[in-house]
Amino acid sequence: MSADTGTFCKGLEGVIADTTTICRIDGQNGKLYIRGYSIEDLARYSDFEEVTYLLLYERLPTKPELEAWRTRMRASRDIPTQVREMIRAFPVSAHPMQLLQSVMAYMSSYVEHRIQHSATCDCKDTLHQVVQTASVVAAYQCSRENKPYVPPLPDRSHGANFLYMVRGREPEDYEGRIMDTCLVLHAEHEFNASTFTARVVASTLSTCYCSISAAMGALYGSLHGGANERVMDMVEEIGTKDRVGPWLDRALAQKRKVMGMGHREYKVKDPRSYIMEGFLKEVTEKKGDSRYYEILKEIERQFHERMEEKGKPIHPNVDFYSGAVYTLLGLPRILFTPMFAMARVAGWLAHVLEQRKDNRIYRPESLYQGPAPRDWLPIDQRVD
Ligand code: COA
Repeated sequence: MSADTGTFCKGLEGVIADTTTICRIDGQNGKLYIRGYSIEDLARYSDFEEVTYLLLYERLPTKPELEAWRTRMRASRDIPTQVREMIRAFPVSAHPMQLLQSVMAYMSSYVEHRIQHSATCDCKDTLHQVVQTASVVAAYQCSRENKPYVPPLPDRSHGANFLYMVRGREPEDYEGRIMDTCLVLHAEHEFNASTFTARVVASTLSTCYCSISAAMGALYGSLHGGANERVMDMVEEIGTKDRVGPWLDRALAQKRKVMGMGHREYKVKDPRSYIMEGFLKEVTEKKGDSRYYEILKEIERQFHERMEEKGKPIHPNVDFYSGAVYTLLGLPRILFTPMFAMARVAGWLAHVLEQRKDNRIYRPESLYQGPAPRDWLPIDQRVD
């Protein structure tokens, strides 16, 4: 449908909003590339710190560069006392995504060189946004459990340190590796709703902290980052493998969305969900608990069958298996979306930097469907 001067596409589907060199999704073939590297290679050979470097510096680091980068990232893990106090003061009933949004805005007051305007802000020098998001999530969990803040470790990967800060004990190597690679899988995904939000805010020349804070608000929604929390709600509601079929029939009859299924871009199974499924298998075996894996595989099989019958194949996305992986790693459901945020913050920052390089403020149009111009009536002449 054509508006006065533009083209109307609900949900901006198919609209190219800008050019990018950061990420490419090949939805037909289920491929994802970050700066040209496949997600499979990054998951296998890189870690979150290296991928953050790749996102921000547009290439993989050399050995000395990576060592220096790790040292810098790890040195910024600890969060200032004022931020810790803010976390403690936050209402326990609030969702941690609300906390993250607020902390991100608040944090900008505690960076060494107070940044008032983004045009001069070199985000690469202020790694707090990326590194400390994880520490804030961990500190929130300690506060929620009424336990003291666990200071970060300097010698473990970003993911392993996060597990340590949340659980208060050093993770096993495989747990640290899985957690860190989950962050790699979530680090970047092109012009999704939260990234687009970050770019829109950056396009006004606001600060990178404001961009990231706004992106966190977008990620909070259950159609975006909140989906893996809902997947685990669904698994719990179903309870056992044999109840999957009747549950699906009911849900589809009620036109309910099956969480963790479907994607705007992927027309086949999300490549990240294959890797995530591998992690779920591994952690299922290590922990000797196959409950979640069995139910999820059955949902996948039966949902696929039902959707194929309708001629509308819909496949698992990255969130389908991630909630179960996190649950088996001993992480509470309330942290799932914040954990997505602590990975995606690296991608958001890369997009903020890219947006600024060749900026034009975003200002789409709307297709007006309201009343024609009409007279304003005094209150005693108005009728219902
Ligand atoms: N369960 C059941 N039906 C689904 C579905 C799901 N998870 N995902 C899509 N569909 C169906 C819709 O009902 C719609 O059917 P219709 O054409 O008969 O109305 C069709 O597929 C297109 O779905 P739509 O919601 O318009 O696609 P979208 O591109 O706007 O939305 C998502 C994409 C991801 C928001 C959507 O698939 C969804 O809500 N998935 C569940 C939430 C989720 O896992 N989000 C995480 C994304 S990484």
